Amino acid sequence: MREAVKGEIVGGVLAPHPPHIVYGENHWRNEPKSECGWEVLRWGYERARKDFLAKKPDVILVHSPHWQTVIGHHFLGLPEFHGLSVDPIFPNLFRFQYDVKVDVELAELIAEEGRRSGLITKMMRNPNFRVDYGTIVSCHMMNPEWDIPIVGISSNNSPYYFSNEMGQAQMVELGQVTKRAIEKSGKRAILLASNTLSHRHFTTEPEIPEDMSREHVYEHSGYLWDMQVIDLMRKGRTKELIAILPEFMDHAVSEVKAGSLAWMLSALDFPDYAAEVYGYWTVIGTGNAVVGWQPPSLGGSDRVPTD
Ligand SMILES: [Fe+2]
Repeated sequence: MREAVKGEIVGGVLAPHPPHIVYGENHWRNEPKSECGWEVLRWGYERARKDFLAKKPDVILVHSPHWQTVIGHHFLGLPEFHGLSVDPIFPNLFRFQYDVKVDVELAELIAEEGRRSGLITKMMRNPNFRVDYGTIVSCHMMNPEWDIPIVGISSNNSPYYFSNEMGQAQMVELGQVTKRAIEKSGKRAILLASNTLSHRHFTTEPEIPEDMSREHVYEHSGYLWDMQVIDLMRKGRTKELIAILPEFMDHAVSEVKAGSLAWMLSALDFPDYAAEVYGYWTVIGTGNAVVGWQPPSLGGSDRVPTD
């Protein structure tokens, strides 16, 4: 009898989701048109895309801060969702026609594995459910062809209701559950953590949103935090990184509070190999980095920068 093929995570990407970068791309799916904008991030995504799509993944998993669920962890649970996604803050930049294909089989496997380890999980089966812009932007920037099915995962609200530490512990468990389910599925998976880093931002917009003469870090302290966490990523020190994330959440209002990064690092078993930074830049003052983890056994570099 042939042994079943064990699935594996072939890479993970910190894949932030400001709608501005899709606006800057001028893709036909997005109605508002720009002249340009936020190139460092868009070109960073372009390079990450080349590296990660070359791994021929069967599925892309995304954990999004903008699908918040109060009770438990929810998963897109129908083979297809389509509609118009409008960003609630930036309807002038993001009105996106989406047509999302879902790997329901893997989503159900993760939900089941989660229940077994004590997490509350639920499948989203409402055909009129509006997929959030975090899921859409991260997936679109990594695979604008949308020809690979996704697994969409909500962010449970426990860090907001209880504490940063409690929320992060949930995400670490969810990451382990996700890894086990992928192994059982026999599939090759890429994970996307749809998180911005420092998150204080401007509250007014220039007349031309893509006027890059107005784009810069909001505050030096947030920038220093971003550099510190990126440094730990580049040096493969993700266990230290996970230990300081709760502090990062408080001091820089970081969006990692929603748990996407902790989920992904846990699923990758807290890599000690170097992450590659594809790009860092601000969007309305918030810190955004496109960062990739490729296991050395699957072609990634095993060199770690030293001080
Ligand atoms: Fe966000």
